[in-house]
Amino acid sequence: MLRVLLGISGGIAAYKGVEVLRGLQREGAEVRVAMTAAAQKFVQPLTFEALSGNRVYTELFPEAGDPEVIHVRLGEWPHLILIAPATANVIGKMANGLADDLLTCTVLSSEAPVMVAPAMETAMYRHPASQRNLQRLADMGYRLIGPEEGALASGSSGMGRLADPQRIVAEAVSSAVTFGDLSGRRIVVTGGRTEEDIDPVRFITNRSTGKMGYAVARRARQRGADVVLVSGPGNLDPPAGVDLIRVRTVSEMRAATESSFEGSDALVMTAAVLDFRPRVVSDAKIKKNANGMTLDLVPNDDFLVGLGARKHGRIVVGFAMETENGLANAQKKRVEKYLDLIVLNNLNESGAGFGVDTNVVTLIDGGEVEPLPKMSKLEVADRILDWVKDRWT
Ligand code: CTP
Repeated sequence: MLRVLLGISGGIAAYKGVEVLRGLQREGAEVRVAMTAAAQKFVQPLTFEALSGNRVYTELFPEAGDPEVIHVRLGEWPHLILIAPATANVIGKMANGLADDLLTCTVLSSEAPVMVAPAMETAMYRHPASQRNLQRLADMGYRLIGPEEGALASGSSGMGRLADPQRIVAEAVSSAVTFGDLSGRRIVVTGGRTEEDIDPVRFITNRSTGKMGYAVARRARQRGADVVLVSGPGNLDPPAGVDLIRVRTVSEMRAATESSFEGSDALVMTAAVLDFRPRVVSDAKIKKNANGMTLDLVPNDDFLVGLGARKHGRIVVGFAMETENGLANAQKKRVEKYLDLIVLNNLNESGAGFGVDTNVVTLIDGGEVEPLPKMSKLEVADRILDWVKDRWT
């Protein structure tokens, strides 16, 4: 799990630190917060404490009876230090190696990569001292995010606004490529449902929401892989840092998946692809009819079979959605679709399947059948990715 030390320094944008914290947590990161004295004038530490579920670090000197050197311990903990917002003052201190409070001391004593999201008035930002300090940070290998143009606290508008919190979160998550256990790998994930039109106003689809596929894409990215997520329609927040390709029909999903699969190391096919489509799509709305109507459906191609057959050493994971004879059907699908692993979803279990955040699955490879207990979809994603990673090592 990505561990981020979030440093909040004292500008009005300190309140946006809350959005950054929430965004990081949504991505599954564990976050600890350190605040400067000035930041605490804008936002109470209690806000961050309640939201992070951890104490907020503010004091350089331990309380009486606490023998630990806090900044050293805190500096060893994170994979990434993210300072958002970073004021001109904190930037100046970091650029010059000053360490007169807990946050700057921790930065100086840590070996973790540092990301800095500056926020200040335009004139302060343009000042040669700030520009020189920012350049120094960049030269030291610190990554700068923003600032952006826009409305400022003074009421004016210009350069210096804190970068959009979502962008900050995406860049922080993407930094995992440097240490994650899947770094250097490229993984294609399909997720969600497909739709097929009947006429201009009607279509057929299924109940898949995409939660499982989004969880696999999110965890793969957090573990450092380059991820392409081919997603059917739905309204889930896309995982930060993945290449999202939105599709609707099976043929669109097929085209996007086939082209992404070139140059990738693995495919995890969680999508609930429609097996049938109407033989003809009416150009005009079909009128009602007292005798009812029969929908003539033709089979869609199962493109997973084709991809499995020409995988050439790449890993292909499929899913099986079953309501009866799950194990036998899934084993058969694994062989028929040339899959390395099939993940059996049993719709009869409570807490499994469509629209919920948990799942109950069984992992089936050539030799073993491993039933997993009920767990979050993020945990299921990790188990699948662990299996894939073991194949590579
Ligand atoms: N799949 C596919 N193309 C299809 C149907 C399914 O690529 N037209 C993939 C799914 O993404 C999944 C796997 O095949 O990874 C199994 O899907 P599932 O719906 O369980 O099985 P089907 O092969 O459709 O068989 P059935 O509907 O008869 O159970």
